[in-house]
Amino acid sequence: MRETGRPLELRSIVRGWRLQGERVALVPTMGNLHDGHRALIREARQRADRVVVSIFVNPLQFDRPEDLSSYPRTLDADRAVLVRDGVDLLFAPDAETLYPGGLDVATRVSVPGLGDLLEGERRPGHFTGVATVVCKLFNLVQPDEAVFGEKDYQQLLLVRRMAADLDIPVRIHGVPVVRAEDGLALSSRNARLSDADRVRAALLHQGLVRAEALLRRGGAIETIERAATEALERVGFKVEYVAIRRADDLATVQTAAMPLVILAAAWLGGVRLIDCLPVA
Ligand code: PAJ
Repeated sequence: MRETGRPLELRSIVRGWRLQGERVALVPTMGNLHDGHRALIREARQRADRVVVSIFVNPLQFDRPEDLSSYPRTLDADRAVLVRDGVDLLFAPDAETLYPGGLDVATRVSVPGLGDLLEGERRPGHFTGVATVVCKLFNLVQPDEAVFGEKDYQQLLLVRRMAADLDIPVRIHGVPVVRAEDGLALSSRNARLSDADRVRAALLHQGLVRAEALLRRGGAIETIERAATEALERVGFKVEYVAIRRADDLATVQTAAMPLVILAAAWLGGVRLIDCLPVA
């Protein structure tokens, strides 16, 4: 596997591949790689001749300083995963390289509307940070394909919209949520859960599965959202939202017209968990 943190070198490697007619896929990550990321890499492999993975803990998208400072950085272990999975190139720039003028970046990409709901409402500036860095990564790598996880469902829709609106010639692919055996969505932040909370955390997914069953039985949207919220609160979650929305744009719905998606964000201890369940 090749590795660089330098944009010029990245460009010249990718240019070499393109000259040979090879298609390039990008998997953007913040590292601390787990089986969720690895599923994205597998998808990228199927879609292209060359796979580039970026690892960059993007300070611009963190709304809480303690979340940024405690974000796990495990580059050596990540490298080993990428080599094992046959990734062609790791792009791991430092913050000074992507933001040479500091974090007071003048030009930012924002996606109002989609970027302001749910996660966007609770995490001010988060999606502008995401859209800005993903746009930069698309410009640097110029991939034919890019792969994102449904785990961050709103992020996936937002990146799709951003690429379409800015005419970025990349195809975006979504990969279903990869879960632990008990149903908890894999996430770098799960390691921060206490042992007891780690056991309880699986109830978040179970709550969504129960909400799906109620939805299919024709329950009223708001009633199901409220019931799911209360059930989670009873077992110790502090719920930010359980929302049943239209799958393609997260618009609110009055009736259960599929495809929908059930999204949730909730705190357990000091850890913020998100999960979702598409209902087709
Ligand atoms: P990160 O949290 O590292 O996630 C990188 C990619 O892996 C995202 O597309 C995310 O949705 C996907 N992913 C994470 N856990 C997953 C799981 N359990 N199942 C399936 N996919 C999963 O998301 C980011 O980084 C950043 O916001 C980024 C897009 C890199 C921009 O900085």
